[in-house]
Amino acid sequence: MTERVVLAYSGGLDTSVAIGWIAEETGAEVIAVAVDVGQDGEDLEVIRDRALACGAVDAYVADAREEFADEYCLPALKADALYLDRYPLVSALSRPVIVKHLVAAAKQHGATIVAHGCTGKGNDQVRFEVGIANLAPDLTCIAPVRDYAMTRDKAIEFAERTGLPISQNKKSPYSIDQNVWGRAVETGFLEDIWNGPIEDVYSYTQDPAIPRPQDEVVITFEAGAPIAIDGEKVTMLQAIQKLNARAGAQGVGRLDLVEDRLVGIKSREIYEAPGAIALITAHQELVNVTVERELSRFGRGVSQRWSELVYDGLWYSPLKRALDGLLDDLNATVSGDIRMTLHGGRAVVTGRRGDESLYDFGLATYDTGDTFDQSQAKGFIDIWGLSSTMAARRDQRLGRSSG
Ligand code: ARG
Repeated sequence: MTERVVLAYSGGLDTSVAIGWIAEETGAEVIAVAVDVGQDGEDLEVIRDRALACGAVDAYVADAREEFADEYCLPALKADALYLDRYPLVSALSRPVIVKHLVAAAKQHGATIVAHGCTGKGNDQVRFEVGIANLAPDLTCIAPVRDYAMTRDKAIEFAERTGLPISQNKKSPYSIDQNVWGRAVETGFLEDIWNGPIEDVYSYTQDPAIPRPQDEVVITFEAGAPIAIDGEKVTMLQAIQKLNARAGAQGVGRLDLVEDRLVGIKSREIYEAPGAIALITAHQELVNVTVERELSRFGRGVSQRWSELVYDGLWYSPLKRALDGLLDDLNATVSGDIRMTLHGGRAVVTGRRGDESLYDFGLATYDTGDTFDQSQAKGFIDIWGLSSTMAARRDQRLGRSSG
């Protein structure tokens, strides 16, 4: 039987050429699988037809939008996941769901090989291949760009030689990856990290510098998940979409970052993730209000570790899974309303309320109605500071400075 390869197909030049290239190189039949994670680009039927026209024996588009929102973006929100404290893991989150669909397609079509269009320099090759090895250790992976030296020039030449129906006029200077959680743009003039991004780079967000009236939004959360916006019930996918539109219109969620790739390279990427940043900003504040201090503090470390694991391609790893368990616990009380102003590129929390709130007016107030017994504070401080005070006394006695 002819061997079969499942290819992660985007519809772009590289993966279109990869169909024929893989067939030539391996003699295998290629099945193209495109996964809809809300990238909102070309019509997906057009993408499917192009794969068939490029020589795929079968091609289909898997609608993974709800699944991506519920099972990948929501855990990221529960983790307040920001790699390097800033990047909401846009591409890193989509790879594991794409992997899931590639593995399912391989099983269904009896394929033994999975192929992807990544280069050998980035994080995404790692995310694909570790994900596939974790879900289906028997499958092998190939990456034509990396393994068969399929450069861009050679790809264009191949497309011309074999008469592939790919228009080369949409020559974007950028490498773009996008989904409902956000958009990542790199290469071109952005590779000089002194060059500032131009408006041309952005598509999910408007220029925050343009004067416009502000927008005020109330997001209702239940156990860490957004369930309503301005009182109207939403699914996770709808929450992201609605906030992409509203926060995007105010220029919220733009990010220009030099980041540490897993392979050791520092690279520069421009991101825009208006919905993700608005949701994470609101969620972080609700955590502050509803989660007990020690769990909340511990959660910050968990959040950082979770983000690094997911960035580094370890979505399907035991530690990531264990941290998800902790984060579900942490989020059990994260319910209530957050009011935010979206304006001038920022999402600013202006109000919080809800039954799970740990904020106690009586304890916090400096006005009448104070219920906090201040006389207890003195003894607390003496004992709290006792061990370091003892050490300081010792140092003083021995003539050492403790300051
Ligand atoms: N640097 C980001 C990450 O590793 C995005 C990768 C894809 N970016 C792109 N412009 N094609 O998650």
